[in-house]
Amino acid sequence: SRTLTVLGIETSCDDTGVGIVKQDGTRGKIIGEQLFSQQNIHTRFGGIIPPIAKDHHRENIDRAVKTCIEKSQITMDEIDAVAVTNRPGLPMSLEIGLRYAKYLCRKFSKPLIPIHHMEAHALTARLGENIPFPYMCLLISGGHCQLVIVKGVDKFYLLGESIDDAPGEAFDKIARRLKLQNLPEFDGMSGGRAIEVAASQSEDPTKFDFPLPLARYRDCQFSFAGLKNNAQRLISKLEQENETRPDEVIPAYREFCRDFLGAIAKHIRHRLQRGIEYSLQEGLISKGDVRSLVVAGGVAANDFIFRSCSEVAKHFNFESFRAPKRLCADNGVMIAWNGIEKLISEPTFSANLEEVNVINK
Ligand code: KG4
Ligand code: ZN
Repeated sequence: SRTLTVLGIETSCDDTGVGIVKQDGTRGKIIGEQLFSQQNIHTRFGGIIPPIAKDHHRENIDRAVKTCIEKSQITMDEIDAVAVTNRPGLPMSLEIGLRYAKYLCRKFSKPLIPIHHMEAHALTARLGENIPFPYMCLLISGGHCQLVIVKGVDKFYLLGESIDDAPGEAFDKIARRLKLQNLPEFDGMSGGRAIEVAASQSEDPTKFDFPLPLARYRDCQFSFAGLKNNAQRLISKLEQENETRPDEVIPAYREFCRDFLGAIAKHIRHRLQRGIEYSLQEGLISKGDVRSLVVAGGVAANDFIFRSCSEVAKHFNFESFRAPKRLCADNGVMIAWNGIEKLISEPTFSANLEEVNVINK
């Protein structure tokens, strides 16, 4: 059979991502990637404002696709299909990517492959590594927190998810509340990355206690709102005690970040352990299966959280994987790769251009 090449487009949130991936046996080779991030803009506004995100996608999409194709040194002739995120995400943002993908498909007569954003995150690690189905996947990002068993390219079994905030959202809100990004060394970083860097600079022993969420529940649900509220209250108290100016960061911000990150990691580890035990008990991962854990989504780029998850996994003889850090966060490569996975598993796949719409769930 021939080697597939797919162009992927991602615009579900605030990153305009394009990627071109070529099939390489059961894995993939990245031959082009382009990312325009709106990180700085939204940090300034204190969150993503959908119409602004949309405007930036519209401004960037054509240039992103053209630059990506140019860099990859191929032509549209060599591309087998266009894959695009059509769910879930901000409807206005998704619309820009989908509209552009349809335009490309019409112009160059290519099939369109609609992609589920979270499924793409969950499959990305398979681009570079041989991870057979089924495997356990912890999806942790700015918008989501899910523990799933990936049984196949489009077969996902949900074990549990967050009942309120996502961990990345908690990081972003606390980084902003701390005013971390006012410090030049954290300028341009995501909230999660800023907290990770600040935490790594702390030398003092544990200072701040945070409660363990859902401690008495024996299921796989997550909750981050309580930790976030706790952290916010604590910051207000520390600001008062230290009489900090409105734009000033509390003196113990490094220790604060380390202990907050530690609390988030502890909760994730606690629920992951429950998920693994349950999956083994119920035979969702059975005797003959290779035991693998994939940590995916923007928050998977966090070394402390990844290591902490790997330790729990290792205890149950699971090997842990994650995609290269830049591919943990939103990008076009993961969409292209999901397109290839789909075509490999279902070679005759074809979607009707007119029937593919944005779905917001
Ligand atoms: O997957 P992603 O790019 O977008 C969503 O689909 O949400 O994830 C973005 C999230 C942001 O909340 C950001 O703060 C977080 O991932 N993030 C991190 C790190 N890098 C990005 N969180 C913790 N540690 C990091 N190093
Ligand atoms: Zn994402």
